Amino acid sequence: MATKIRLEHITKIYGRDPRGQALELLHAGKGKDEIFAKTRHVVGVNNVSFDVEEGEIFVVMGLSGSGKSTLIRCVNRLIEPTDGAIYVDDTDITKLDKPQLREMRRTKMAMVFQHFALFPHKSVIYNVGYGLNVRGVREEEWRERSLKALEMVGLRMWAEHYPHNLSGGMQQRVGLARALATDADILLMDEAFSALDPLIRREMQNELLTLQEDLQKTILFITHDLGEALRVGGRVAVMRGGAVVQIGTPQEIITEPADDYVAEFMADVDTGRVLTAEFIMSPATTVSLRRNTVQDALRRMDFEGINEIYVLDDTARVDGILRRPNLEALNDRGERDFSSAIRGDFPRVPRFARLYELYDLSARGEPIAVIGDRGKLEGVVYPLYIFEALARDNGNGHSNDSSDSQHGHSNGRSNGHTDAQTVSDSTAMPEPVAADADNN
Ligand SMILES: Nc1ncnc2c1ncn2[C@@H]1O[C@H](COP(=O)(O)OP(=O)(O)OP(=O)(O)O)[C@@H](O)[C@H]1O
Ligand SMILES: [Mg+2]
Repeated sequence: MATKIRLEHITKIYGRDPRGQALELLHAGKGKDEIFAKTRHVVGVNNVSFDVEEGEIFVVMGLSGSGKSTLIRCVNRLIEPTDGAIYVDDTDITKLDKPQLREMRRTKMAMVFQHFALFPHKSVIYNVGYGLNVRGVREEEWRERSLKALEMVGLRMWAEHYPHNLSGGMQQRVGLARALATDADILLMDEAFSALDPLIRREMQNELLTLQEDLQKTILFITHDLGEALRVGGRVAVMRGGAVVQIGTPQEIITEPADDYVAEFMADVDTGRVLTAEFIMSPATTVSLRRNTVQDALRRMDFEGINEIYVLDDTARVDGILRRPNLEALNDRGERDFSSAIRGDFPRVPRFARLYELYDLSARGEPIAVIGDRGKLEGVVYPLYIFEALARDNGNGHSNDSSDSQHGHSNGRSNGHTDAQTVSDSTAMPEPVAADADNN
């Protein structure tokens, strides 16, 4: 994956003479409070460096005043950084002149704000198309692109209504549609969902994640809400007093907090609501529907010490599961073809399912298949791993070797074999739905 945005030593100091004594003191390692006391200058952002990869949702999280908004506004230069460089697609945007900057803001980046900033007396579609309109895009085209964007956020039918006809959540969707309509490949979202009440907010987060699967934008997402950060972030940077104190995946931040501050932050996190199936899955053992036999399947199961094996079709989609007793029966009769033993009633979850969504499924003792896009089998979660992962207590859990639980092969197998009557269940396993109630 290519780097889309690169921040190098970005510093922002507010005050009359930001590059003067305040910057000197900062370079000398003085803290924000001391610098303020001495110079009356405020350190907004202190020496922040990170890369945001193309197609990633990168979250910046921190308490109020930690410098999040300052930082994101440096990226489109609504705020001029005092020091450092910001590369967007290899262009150092701190060096752009006004017209170049304007061009970049119009075409490359779109910002979604906390307060949706809609024109109250203009229709929804006009609001969405506004950016394109002022850019001189002809009406037919901006209308068409706006409708498409409204369609993406589920508001096409509302195009000719006015903002006051819409709920807060819907207005935020309009804000998002406006950003999407520009086709910018970078979205800057500053507390975009923070004004929404928890349920709607949760819905928007899910919607963003769903949209992102297709759109693959590069998203810099600011929030002060830990739950939100962990839910939407591919990676999360934690800020404190203008500086970044840790960058990592939600899982890394929870299981290996860089310091006590981050650990404290994470103390209330319900691990089961953050860790995903993907995080604790192991590679699945499989056989091919066309190429393998009953005997192949049994050999692989013996080798891995497991009692179930997945059958893949030619396109790596899961066709079903084979269980040991059924295979052994076929083997005893000298059969080679296992198709009569394939069952469709195995537990499965999407790869981003949270651990708490796996609890019930895990009660059967069978491994849980982790299914990705287009039915592809991504891996398998062994029930024991779920509890192992949950057992790490926040802040102290870093002694745990996390690579072990990702790739471990030797433990956590479902023990005992599954008996054949479980096979009679209906073939359609309900897809677990994301729980909506949450501590937001
Ligand atoms: N225009 C300004 N002039 C002086 N100081 C400022 C200015 N804007 C922000 N600051 C200071 O810079 C620091 C970072 O503020 P910023 O708004 O970036 O924080 P934030 O993390 O976005 O907070 P919040 O969660 O409340 O939005 C704070 O100490 C703030 O007081
Ligand atoms: Mg802010």
